[in-house]
Amino acid sequence: MQQAIAMLDSGVGGLTVVKEVMRQLPREKIIYFGDTARSPYGPRSSEEVRLFTRQIVDYLIQYQPKMIVIACNTAAAVALEDIRQHVSVPVVGVIHPGARAAISATKSGYIGVIGTDVTVRSGAYVQALRRLSPHVEVISQACPQFVPLVEKGMYRSEETWSVVRESLASVRATPIDTLVLGCTHYPFLTEPIQEVMGPGVELINSAEETAREVSTILQDKNQLAEKDDMPVHQFFCSGDQEMFQHIAKEWLGDQIQDIPCIWQVPHIY
Ligand code: DGL
Repeated sequence: MQQAIAMLDSGVGGLTVVKEVMRQLPREKIIYFGDTARSPYGPRSSEEVRLFTRQIVDYLIQYQPKMIVIACNTAAAVALEDIRQHVSVPVVGVIHPGARAAISATKSGYIGVIGTDVTVRSGAYVQALRRLSPHVEVISQACPQFVPLVEKGMYRSEETWSVVRESLASVRATPIDTLVLGCTHYPFLTEPIQEVMGPGVELINSAEETAREVSTILQDKNQLAEKDDMPVHQFFCSGDQEMFQHIAKEWLGDQIQDIPCIWQVPHIY
């Protein structure tokens, strides 16, 4: 049986990372868990997010994945180290890849980071960015209204455009030239966010850099899928399967068109 890359998020957000992993590594099998019943994680305590992340990893690990990708900034911000100590396979988060991409993009050294309350409060991006470039100025802002809209599939609605406009008003008034989408749900809102921020601000979606890191690690360990591997992806969610499947199919589109996928709602807690 082909060993999978296990990926997780509080809901549909991690699919933005899945899409990029599928694009860069089309022969890899993906097992994804979206904790849609308990989304959003952003307003929760760090302890709760750590516990939820551990529960999902304990579930996914029975499939003996070759790697775990925490495709959720909120979980990565507070649980990455815990999970690394807990499992024996490589664990990749999305914050360091996002920070690397932001540092290579910025010219002015003024970087904005938008994310959930937990992510912003954790200071994980500020630390990751300053480790790479000590003098960078970081402007952080939590956008708690974004994730529930995306989970409801409302990423194109009028209401969403006005929420994005209001939420980003203060970030827009700063001199940043780079804005990190520090939550994997936010690439669903790329269009309104780019429109509000204007053409002078480059949006950073950590998915591309994360997928590159996944690829490098697998290559180093000689664990990339074989030429004739035919992946069957597995998608799990804990809540409304219909909505999850609808968003996943719409977002992943061509990437899963010709590939068999299994959809399930397992009871893991
Ligand atoms: N997609 C997640 C993140 O990257 C979690 C959002 C949430 O559940 O609040 O932070």
